[in-house]
Amino acid sequence: MFGSYSKRLPPLSVSDIARSKLTYLPAAKLQNITQCIQKVQTQRVPGDFVEFGVALGGSGIFIARQMARSRRFVGLDVCGMIPAPGPRDDQKSHEVIGSSPAVNPKESAATDITATNRTC
Ligand SMILES: C[S@@+](CC[C@H](N)C(=O)[O-])C[C@H]1O[C@@H](n2cnc3c(N)ncnc32)[C@H](O)[C@@H]1O
Repeated sequence: MFGSYSKRLPPLSVSDIARSKLTYLPAAKLQNITQCIQKVQTQRVPGDFVEFGVALGGSGIFIARQMARSRRFVGLDVCGMIPAPGPRDDQKSHEVIGSSPAVNPKESAATDITATNRTC
């Protein structure tokens, strides 16, 4: 269900969120997200941010920490409803699906940042 979190935390760097092990995204994609958010906010495009496919929440945390306070973040995921890769899927799919970037929660910067509801 939807929740709200009113405390404003400062933005995270790409290396902070990569170290958190809560995202599958490479640095280039995280940098692209930052550029998109800056463009939306500089041009005062109205609306909220919605991410389809939050997985472990890393990119969602990264986005939410850069948003203007007036905007809301909504994170959605099908949470395990995607079938496991089969013989017709590529090697990368087999390597990524079922593996988790969260290798050591004690090393996770994001666990200090916000409560994460791990339903995926
Ligand atoms: C590559 S992972 C997520 C990447 C994530 N944003 C991150 O920071 O690592 C893709 C996610 O998208 C979800 N997903 C795939 N298709 C979806 C759909 N149609 N609607 C919502 N979530 C979806 C999967 O369950 C999976 O958690």
